[in-house]
Amino acid sequence: MSLTGTVLVTGGAGFIGSHIAARLAAQGARVRVIDDLSTGHRHNLDAIKGDVEFVHASLNDETQLKRALDKVEIVFHQAAIPSVPRSVANPLETHRACVDGTFQLLLAARDAGVKRLVYAASSSAYGDQEAPAKSEDLTPSPLSPYAVAKLVGEYYCQVWTRVYNFETVAIRYFNVFGPRQDPSSQYSGVISQFIARLLRGETPVIYGDGEQSRDFTFVSNVVDANLLAAESSRAVGQVINVAVGQQTSLNVLLETLKKLLGREDINAEHVAPRIGDVRDSLADITRARELLGYEPQVDLEEGLRQTIEWFKHSQYAK
Ligand SMILES: NC(=O)c1ccc[n+]([C@@H]2O[C@H](COP(=O)([O-])OP(=O)(O)OC[C@H]3O[C@@H](n4cnc5c(N)ncnc54)[C@H](O)[C@@H]3O)[C@@H](O)[C@H]2O)c1
Repeated sequence: MSLTGTVLVTGGAGFIGSHIAARLAAQGARVRVIDDLSTGHRHNLDAIKGDVEFVHASLNDETQLKRALDKVEIVFHQAAIPSVPRSVANPLETHRACVDGTFQLLLAARDAGVKRLVYAASSSAYGDQEAPAKSEDLTPSPLSPYAVAKLVGEYYCQVWTRVYNFETVAIRYFNVFGPRQDPSSQYSGVISQFIARLLRGETPVIYGDGEQSRDFTFVSNVVDANLLAAESSRAVGQVINVAVGQQTSLNVLLETLKKLLGREDINAEHVAPRIGDVRDSLADITRARELLGYEPQVDLEEGLRQTIEWFKHSQYAK
């Protein structure tokens, strides 16, 4: 599999997609992005503007999608409306973007002769489980429309591999964070929200007691996993966790951020827990190690430092 041919990043104007696009462009790939800018931003691609072909369209626009797939060898499928609470508020929008979008893409990619599709799956598929660490052989237990929609995408990928011999790899991301993650909506990732609020001297909001935990994963680790998944022959047809394998509660996360930002004077406001949220999330990353040769290179604290540095110079600090 060649990463120097033409590749398509769906949702490439989003947070994670823009990092994948940048890495691929740096490696000499011809990068195309398709994005409807529903949650992403054109400016996320500013640094690689000259190296990326941008198709402003939805995956549900068949004509534009076909155009975007022309001569593409590998697809990195990131496009989604990626939020649990937003899916609770508007499940139809989530379904259209995640289920219909993924289905249209798989159909068109198969017919366009794409060699492989790497799918951004989600740890939300696990829901709450007895086992302390979530491994891929557990039975999924989605708790929100978002989790169902992302899981449907995984199942379609696996069936495309089985039925059409079309190569797919689904990688289940666990709470990703890093530069360019948009903090500006109530649906944004928690780390971006905490950092933006602390930088502005505002009170961070915690839903529930703050003892819920996550396996926070710096975005460069997720980019590494995507590139490995595009090339590994053993990964085809598989579902693979991508995380760090380190569990952190929101209370501990906030204390760490307060220290790093010198804002120990600010305390969180606790409000009611949100429907659809998982209580604890920790990944077993054995399969990623075995099938992808994946090893997380950046741990939580180093990731937080890099993220804070970026946020300090961003529009979100003001
Ligand atoms: N951020 C996380 O913690 C996390 C965790 C697990 C899985 N994921 C998955 O990773 C992927 C990327 O997430 P992100 O955090 O970068 O979110 P993001 O919102 O920054 O990026 C998603 C991008 O998809 C685009 N998009 C949405 N619907 C589209 C459509 N119908 N057609 C074309 N483009 C469309 C948006 O405009 C946006 O640019 C998503 O598939 C998400 O489900 C993210």
